Amino acid sequence: MASNWTPDGWKAREARHLPAYQDAEALGVVEATLAKFPPLVFAGEARALKADLAEVAQGRGFLLQGGDCAESFAEFHPDNIRDTFRVLLQMAVVLTFASKQPVVKVGRMAGQFAKPRSAPTETIGGEELPSYLGDIINGIEFDPATRQNDPERMLRAYSQSAATLNLIRAFATGGYANLRQVHQWTLEHIGRSPWAAKFGETADRIGEALDFMAACGVDPATVPQLQGTSFYTSHEALLLQYEQALTRRDSLTGDWYDCSAHMLWIGDRTRFDGSAHVEFLRGVGNPIGMKCGPSLEPDALLKLLDTLNPAREPGRMTLISRFGHDKVEDGLPKLVRAVKREGHPVVWSCDPMHGNVIKSDSGYKTRPFDRILSEVKGFFAVHRAEGTHAGGIHIEMTGQDVTECTGGAVAITDAGLADRYHTHCDPRLNAAQSIELAFLLAEMLNLEAVDRGKQAA
Ligand code: PEP
Ligand code: CO
Repeated sequence: MASNWTPDGWKAREARHLPAYQDAEALGVVEATLAKFPPLVFAGEARALKADLAEVAQGRGFLLQGGDCAESFAEFHPDNIRDTFRVLLQMAVVLTFASKQPVVKVGRMAGQFAKPRSAPTETIGGEELPSYLGDIINGIEFDPATRQNDPERMLRAYSQSAATLNLIRAFATGGYANLRQVHQWTLEHIGRSPWAAKFGETADRIGEALDFMAACGVDPATVPQLQGTSFYTSHEALLLQYEQALTRRDSLTGDWYDCSAHMLWIGDRTRFDGSAHVEFLRGVGNPIGMKCGPSLEPDALLKLLDTLNPAREPGRMTLISRFGHDKVEDGLPKLVRAVKREGHPVVWSCDPMHGNVIKSDSGYKTRPFDRILSEVKGFFAVHRAEGTHAGGIHIEMTGQDVTECTGGAVAITDAGLADRYHTHCDPRLNAAQSIELAFLLAEMLNLEAVDRGKQAA
């Protein structure tokens, strides 16, 4: 357990991107209420995820983490949860087949509400209001009352997270995630893709493998593992008042866990030396992610790793690089080398989203699919050159047919962005673009698997 740590010790540190609440009493009531609510996850589950990630850190597995940039109260609907869950499973099947390794599935779901923003205020038509900070803090509507920070929103976010997690658990273990069925959905999906022929071959091979296994008596009817899957939740641990209220001592080990999600991460803007967010996460036993952007120097990274993972426990730390398509090959190697040299066991994951935001001619914030792909390729190239494991992908996506990122085989154009641009924050890959990315990733993972085979021979 971390020394000199208490759940509220973060309050003595510098906290950036935390909302100021005008009504301290109302905040206190909400915190006390949340502290009495049931934890959303159990510490044992967080430890199971850590064990899975420890395998990935050692080169035996791949992390697939994805979901909304910001969940919202307005988009809360069982179909949305189902569709995002479904696309993540489809991606996982394709990636498992290509990598010949287990894929650890983690949703940016059931708690991903709070957002750090680049500017504290927003001005429209001469009127200046506080920026939207995520539905757990204030509302997106450009209206003075809605943009006030309201602690009561935390209760609604908790209840939405609980209901979302409940449905995810039901899908993951109740028969919906049956392997044969997930593959069938993918076939239907790629049938409509211009890449159908290219991806068809991989899809056919997965189908053949399933047929072969069935002929050997290994099918979902006989092997219960094929009927279900494990699926974990995660979000950025930004709103520390909420995270603290859901932090509990595990009855089995006596250690503290943040029971708002299995995995929590620290954003690129809150990972600075002396940060309240680092202080908070240092004391909870969950697996921790940390975003690593171009401003992070190797020495600072090593210091953060020593603070967050002094025992060098494998599976504890996932480093999520997010450089931008044109910076990754310059910026990432020095971090990878430093971490390798110091022997810190980490999962290296690639967030190809946050370094690749541009403003389209039509005025929308977007991410061109080819830049996303190019950052992923750069990430794989760096790890190949450094002899380290390209261990995961972290994406903003949805199972809906939105038009937020340009390009992909479906070729969303600048002009087409306006059709179904629904995100509450950053642009997400839609279902087709996500599956396309999985097939393209599969090609890169295949190369890694071939390399591994050669080394073993
Ligand atoms: C995010 O993941 O939504 C985010 C804000 O990322 P970053 O901290 O990398 O900017
Ligand atoms: Co985002």
